[in-house]
Amino acid sequence: MSTFLDAARPETPPAETARFRPAIHFTARNTWLNDPNGLVFHDGLYHLFFQNNPYGNVWGNMSWGHATSRDLLHWTEHPVAIACDESEDIFSGSVVVDHGNTSGFSTADAPALVAIYTSAYKAASEHHGTQAQSLAYSTDAGMTWHKYGGNPVLARNSAHFRDPKVFRYEGGQGTCWIMVAVEAQHQKVVFYRSDDLKTWDFLSDFGPMNADQGEWECPDLFPLAVDGDPDNVKWVLIVNVNPGAVAGGSGGQYFVGQFDGTRFVPDASSVAAPAGVSALGDPAAAAAALQQCLWLDWGRDCYASVSFSNVPEGRRIMIGWMNNWDYANQLPTAPWRSSMTLAREVRLTAADGSARLVQQPVLGGNSLTGEQPASKKLMHADNLGLQDSALRLPDAERGSAQVIKAEILPGNARRIEFRLFASADGSEGTILRFEPDGSRLVLDRRQSGESRFHAKFASVESAPLAIEDGVLRLQIVVDHCSVEVFAQGGTALLTDLVFPGTEARENWLSAAGGPATILQLTVSALS
Ligand code: FRU
Repeated sequence: MSTFLDAARPETPPAETARFRPAIHFTARNTWLNDPNGLVFHDGLYHLFFQNNPYGNVWGNMSWGHATSRDLLHWTEHPVAIACDESEDIFSGSVVVDHGNTSGFSTADAPALVAIYTSAYKAASEHHGTQAQSLAYSTDAGMTWHKYGGNPVLARNSAHFRDPKVFRYEGGQGTCWIMVAVEAQHQKVVFYRSDDLKTWDFLSDFGPMNADQGEWECPDLFPLAVDGDPDNVKWVLIVNVNPGAVAGGSGGQYFVGQFDGTRFVPDASSVAAPAGVSALGDPAAAAAALQQCLWLDWGRDCYASVSFSNVPEGRRIMIGWMNNWDYANQLPTAPWRSSMTLAREVRLTAADGSARLVQQPVLGGNSLTGEQPASKKLMHADNLGLQDSALRLPDAERGSAQVIKAEILPGNARRIEFRLFASADGSEGTILRFEPDGSRLVLDRRQSGESRFHAKFASVESAPLAIEDGVLRLQIVVDHCSVEVFAQGGTALLTDLVFPGTEARENWLSAAGGPATILQLTVSALS
């Protein structure tokens, strides 16, 4: 079975963990969560369904929890949407708005919401041991759900066929539903088509390619116009991999290419290892190839990222699970465990003759709803010299997240360093460091507070970072138990969980080895 089952161990004793509860990241009130599921915008609300254990705070009893939000920052949790029973667990999947009532599930003018999820069959089922795709539908805008009587709608007699992402495809030959799912242990994305969501025909498969040293999970496929040019549309295929991601354990890779309604073909510039890094044999060659793959995030804690369907104006917004299967079941919080990443709006931009994703956190001021974020500016500075000195930033405050935006000219400095959640005696802190010589942005959580709950938690990760015009641009969101870094306008991301000590609330910025200039710096609180 999957690695996460092997990883499930008894819970660590709960500490006093209310201080770790994030202000602007979704957590379930009292229970466990993993992957975001069924992300859909409908009638002014963003719906976040999620892998949930309604009875505990470790993985198990998988059901779809449910939360809604108007601004993607503040969430209201609702009762479990689709519950497991004795014959199936409800694994990951997606939701579509069936505008044309192709499924026949609508009862009135209002379209049904249709969930396509994985039935992970249990002992009481005749399909025991297999995974197949099933439907549930809602005719009250997502608040209550009914399983379809004809489930499953798509089976392959496979134990690892899961995580369907369905979208409406319009191409030369007309319109249809496309499903992307995975054969997880074969490192394959499989593509199917349907007219009514109930009958599916196989189209093609993709993989293994690039990062393939773990199971492939939670795929997604969507088109984006490169730099907004409608004549240059490319397709982005998301493939989450666990383990075997660049920072270790779970992570999300992507490919840019073309999809013609049948087959996905990656651009040559997306291909680091045509038969997968494991085919390279030599561990050093595999590690080097992993650096060349395209990663949604270079940190330890961004997994199972998928996008919302039905968002107006062609916007593409993704959310990931802010965790890693390496230690997910042992995080030192109770009764809740785990959170989502911030919502990230993604675009494609041309870079070095190819196209790459850029991602920005959605921090309110939402153009769809007109709502403004409850953001309070705490500090602003510009044109400030720093040389072998440190600038104290506002402390982390209980109840709000901090957004630090900085534009820094490293000049002759050999190291620019943020020290976040630092203790007054300097013994504790999470370090974000840029060393112009190495052209890498490094996130070091080895001294970040509690880390002994799992041997793999204390870690250092890094992303390659080219600063062409000489200016280092960082947006850092710090929220009680996480640090999310969006560098160079969102071309490189680093997301890590941290569990700071009660008194570790200081934030510092320093430069060493030569003079640097802070061109702009703002720190805001968001709650
Ligand atoms: C990814 C995953 C999915 C599966 C779900 C089960 O984290 O393993 O492949 O559907 O979690 O909870």
